[in-house]
Amino acid sequence: MGSWPADVGIIALEIIFPSQYVDQTELEQFDGVSAGKYTVGLGQQRMGFCNDREDINSLCLTVVQNLMQRYNISPKEIGRLEVGTETIIDKSKSVKTVLMQLFEPYGVTDIEGIDTTNACFGGTAALFNAISWVESSAWNGRYALVVAGDIAVYAKGPARPTGGTGAVAMLIGPNAPLVFDRGLRGCFFKHAYDFYKPDLTSEYPVVDGKLSVQCYLEALDSCYQLYCQKAEKLMQKSVTINSFDGILFHTPYCKLVQKSVGRLALNDFVKTSADKKKSQYPGFEAFENVKLQDSYFDRDVEKAFLNVSKECFDKKTKPSLLVATNVGNMYTSSLYGGLVSYIVSKNMSELENNRVALFSYGSGLASSFYSLTIKPSSALKTLKDNLNYVKPLLEKRIKIAPEKFEATLELRQHSAHKVPYDPVGDRSHFFPGTYYLSKVDDKHRRFYDKIPGSVHLTNGNSYS
Ligand code: ACO
Repeated sequence: MGSWPADVGIIALEIIFPSQYVDQTELEQFDGVSAGKYTVGLGQQRMGFCNDREDINSLCLTVVQNLMQRYNISPKEIGRLEVGTETIIDKSKSVKTVLMQLFEPYGVTDIEGIDTTNACFGGTAALFNAISWVESSAWNGRYALVVAGDIAVYAKGPARPTGGTGAVAMLIGPNAPLVFDRGLRGCFFKHAYDFYKPDLTSEYPVVDGKLSVQCYLEALDSCYQLYCQKAEKLMQKSVTINSFDGILFHTPYCKLVQKSVGRLALNDFVKTSADKKKSQYPGFEAFENVKLQDSYFDRDVEKAFLNVSKECFDKKTKPSLLVATNVGNMYTSSLYGGLVSYIVSKNMSELENNRVALFSYGSGLASSFYSLTIKPSSALKTLKDNLNYVKPLLEKRIKIAPEKFEATLELRQHSAHKVPYDPVGDRSHFFPGTYYLSKVDDKHRRFYDKIPGSVHLTNGNSYS
């Protein structure tokens, strides 16, 4: 019997986001809410959004093409391709089959995998499937490609500023620079109606905002506790937030993530023995008997543990929020946009040998806390260098006024399932190499064109 392939993990990472955004300060004024509600209260600066020329297929086509170009990967090298998304435009045909258009011209049709859906967790489920495939008897030595992408739009109201859009592609294989820690996943799944999309004619979810936050925090508590138990057994030592160099979260909005770091510190406090609490947490006597399930919205507890964890947040989590604060919630790709942000915000020596924790959450609900180790190698340098485009590209986007943003969302809502349909949105600001929807015929078949030019390549690789 052969042994497991070594160091299975992420070999290449690519991200895309829309070329237009709305400014959250301007949106506060436009929506008539108090100044600071979106920018300070939610921690959001800008929100990326699409017009009617982009859909989940076009986003995924673009991000897969960009990754393969940038890393000079031949279609023949891909043995599994899997998409995680909750942006459903067809109840039967997967996005993965649409992506096959990038492979068929090269005679490549032998690629496993389809789509996976459960709110923002689909990308992580697809990633776990890809890891399992590489570690299984079905593996044929080729790479797996995981795509997480979504268009996150909400009806007008308090949830709207927590929208966003993006897609991340991840190349999975052995001898990777970002290696998944084996046997270390804490999972929590349960039935909840916190956020769901029962109206298949609309892009908008039904959302119970407060319940969704409570579910997120409950899932975080459970996953983290389980992860710690497993890690402590494996490593024979206690595991706390100090055990990680980076702590990354699914990011519906940045403020929730800051509170989540506080939540992990609260979990560490709760499991500390009574005598150690006295010495390690002076002045915290009032919280001695705090129960996790009673404290989701306890302001005193929240404030105390936000303070305790501030340094940890600044060092280990804030660097992962670059894309989230500038683009918004990208649903399935949110956590992996966090991984991209973490890598572009640090230099090589700061990244090497990092142990990074990741918390993935999808409403409904599905969640997992797991970890990876960043291994020093030339492949790590390549992966990092190939993300040099991210910061400049964020700045290359154009700002759209809130009035136009609102009109664009109305156009999307009204055209979502219209046939036949000829999109009308402006494509002049799309980045080179962007796929876009050119028409939908009377049989709901979608057709795509591409903006000429190569993607913002940093290494001059071409795709042939
Ligand atoms: N200056 C500074 N802060 C302010 C201001 C201001 N002028 N006004 C309000 N705030 C603060 C509030 O105090 C609040 O802070 P808190 O969270 O510490 O209490 C925060 O801004 C948000 O204000 P609320 O009044 O609580 O916001 P509201 O209830 O209107 O909406 C919510 C927030 C529920 C998150 C909403 O945007 C939503 O439903 N979003 C979608 C659901 C979501 O993202 N859930 C998270 C997990 S599930 C998922 O990923 C989809």
